[in-house]
Amino acid sequence: MSVTRLFTSKGEELSLGPILGKGGEGSVHQINEDSNRVAKVYHKIPDGDRQEKLRVMASLGDADVRKFVAWPVETLHVSRGGPVRGFVMPTAGACVPVHQLYNPGHRKQEQPQLSWKNLLVMARNTADAFAAVHQRGLVVGDVNENSVMVAPNSGHVMLIDADSFQVNADGRFFPCLVGVPDFTPPELHAVGDFGRMVRTANHDNFGLAILIFQLLLGGRHPFAGRPLRNDVGNDMSIDISGFRFADALDNSNRGLVPPPTAVPMTILPAIIHGMFTQAFTEPGIQRRPTAREWVSALDKLGPQTAVCHANSHHAYPAHVRACPWCSLDSSGIVHFVKAQVAAKAQAARVTIAALWAQISGSSQYAGNRVQPITSSCGRR
Ligand SMILES: Nc1ncnc2c1ncn2[C@@H]1O[C@H](COP(=O)(O)OP(=O)(O)O)[C@@H](O)[C@H]1O
Ligand SMILES: [Mg+2]
Repeated sequence: MSVTRLFTSKGEELSLGPILGKGGEGSVHQINEDSNRVAKVYHKIPDGDRQEKLRVMASLGDADVRKFVAWPVETLHVSRGGPVRGFVMPTAGACVPVHQLYNPGHRKQEQPQLSWKNLLVMARNTADAFAAVHQRGLVVGDVNENSVMVAPNSGHVMLIDADSFQVNADGRFFPCLVGVPDFTPPELHAVGDFGRMVRTANHDNFGLAILIFQLLLGGRHPFAGRPLRNDVGNDMSIDISGFRFADALDNSNRGLVPPPTAVPMTILPAIIHGMFTQAFTEPGIQRRPTAREWVSALDKLGPQTAVCHANSHHAYPAHVRACPWCSLDSSGIVHFVKAQVAAKAQAARVTIAALWAQISGSSQYAGNRVQPITSSCGRR
């Protein structure tokens, strides 16, 4: 039977609203009494360890982590004092999964107002969120393209699925039991059971570098490309375990090179290329660039960007002579909507809203002001 009301550990009764999203372990609902918070309800009653993990997490109150993470704030129970069935956390509000922003097709359709500079801010803020998590001795573990949520216009980042994090607190250790192969570092691909191992920040830093790569370089995965041999390009897990980074300086030995239509690595300064190489090749097992190091490198890159005269959405690092986005445009690969076209698209959305207001007789429409399509993540 589906759950419609639950009780917090303090006995407060909450009624569940519509489902906002569904995952492998649970569904996330609106809470009718509180629009700033949402409830994750597990598909079945979690085991004792997970119940204890949630109790411990809800009792930890680190402001820095809560700034970036939809952290559990209350456990939820089917009956007052009964077993934990879920938890309350802040809403991710207007944030969208990061893959909807680094994927050029989706971005152009849904967020045409965004430029490469916005993506740079998102990459920097993703690293900042990971840095806050690592600073507290936590490990994300299950890094993936759905668990990083971003507010499109502000670039604010919020990590969700915190109940999967590896948590070490109050003398208790709670492992992260899951992982997605495309974001799992080479040294963990042979691990059969994540429940038996201790994950580290250095493991997270592999997935973090992948997300940064995808945001800065047109959405491509660093281990996707044109295979040079039959044994390459068939299985992402095997290519990651074999360190087949398509942009490695010795990539032809590794058997994989970037596809001809790829955004070239040369748009980024050599130092950033070096950081990716460190993250995706053999030395990374010992040490990958940390989240804090990414924040600092990307912060330096921000003021060094140039903006194209033809299209203000074409930002790029100033060491590049000619606008790389114009050059890709001319070969038919458009990454960013022209600024003027994007402005028209936004205005059209307001016009549609105005029309709807007239038809429905609503008094909500506030004149001809162009509204941002989305603003920021929910209140924390
Ligand atoms: N704090 C949140 N605010 C709004 N929606 C959320 C929030 N957390 C999760 N969701 C939505 O619920 C979905 C499932 O959540 P997730 O924690 O990833 O579930 P699972 O652990 O079961 O895979 C997410 O993909 C997202 O759409
Ligand atoms: Mg989960």
